[in-house]
Amino acid sequence: MTGLTRREAVGLGLVGAAAPTLTALAQPRPASLERPGSLIGFASMIQDFRADPRFREMLLNQADIITPMNDLKWAQLRPKRDAFDFVDADEAIAFARANGKRVHGHALVWHDALPGWTRAIVSRSEAERELERHIETVLARYKGKVESWDVVNEVIAHDPRPDAPMRQGFWLSRLGPGYVETAFRLASRADPAARLVINDYDLEDPSPRTANRRRILLGMLRDLKAKGLPVHAVGMQAHLYGEREIDRKGLEAFVGELDRMGVDLMITELDVIDWQLPAKPDERDAAAAKLVATLLDAVSVTKPPQAIISWGISDRSSWISEVFKRQDGLANRPLPFDAEFREKPVWRVIASRRARNGSRS
Ligand code: G3I
Repeated sequence: MTGLTRREAVGLGLVGAAAPTLTALAQPRPASLERPGSLIGFASMIQDFRADPRFREMLLNQADIITPMNDLKWAQLRPKRDAFDFVDADEAIAFARANGKRVHGHALVWHDALPGWTRAIVSRSEAERELERHIETVLARYKGKVESWDVVNEVIAHDPRPDAPMRQGFWLSRLGPGYVETAFRLASRADPAARLVINDYDLEDPSPRTANRRRILLGMLRDLKAKGLPVHAVGMQAHLYGEREIDRKGLEAFVGELDRMGVDLMITELDVIDWQLPAKPDERDAAAAKLVATLLDAVSVTKPPQAIISWGISDRSSWISEVFKRQDGLANRPLPFDAEFREKPVWRVIASRRARNGSRS
């Protein structure tokens, strides 16, 4: 195999009227055909993946990297306190590995999607024990199979105040702010080769609240780095609101600062919340593509993001259709492929950022 999809080959002018033979495609590619870029991928829901072969085909044909959307969350892995259930996660990860895809793990620590039994944990020592058991057990199983992990997800307060920069929730209430450091320490000990990510949302629009969230995130990174903890990347979820702008200048400064700190950027949950965009599909899709292009340009000033992962594949299946329904009753169109798996303009924007050599520069 050449490592090129047909689409990439078409993009390079390698197929079409003067299509070269497969043997020609199999020759090592000259350096001039290699281009810095991003790994491209999707979060995948196990239910879709099992029910509809088109989801699997899209992953096979278009993904460099796959995030199991829900299978690695506590609620799925830990239905009971004393027994882990790896059935769904194993299936998703085995599919990725068997087909040469990388896996991004989501998420080791999150205030949401916790199983009911965690509510009975009240003491600090008990919470610490469960956190340690969780991270050690999950990473021991997927060491060498999951290349990167959202170690902590959404730890910054939605609207941070000086006296409350972090999100209130289970882990903060049981362990205090040090739980972020603890999680990174445990993860790096359990899988020293894994790339460790701090993942969060609302980092891209031009509001003071968002600028404040970026500032707090940078402060946390500095603190973790000063303590010698390996934080390899920031995960920018990028659930983009169609009605908001992209803060180009703010993002350029942000990624510049990350670069100086030696921290990469991943776009981890990209989609467009289109509840307030125009009704006409063409206009809506064009607005979504423009928004995503603006974001990707702004975060690529120093170097392309390491990965661009879309939070789903087809408009057939997205959390946005549940949470951000349109008032006109029309179906949401948040993802790169429509409900019939036809590519949309936003897909062309994303795919154009793919690293040509199939691995990240
Ligand atoms: O698996 C069960 C199924 O057995 C049951 O029949 C069904 C009944 O409701 O629920 C199924 O679980 C649902 C799961 O999605 C899989 O469909 C959960 O109830 C539901 O809460 C869960 O929602 C996910 C949500 O996170 C909470 O985990 C969404 O799919 C997922 O898109 C969303 O993703 C989050 C990221 O993790 C973090 N960033 C924001 C993003 C969007 O909210």
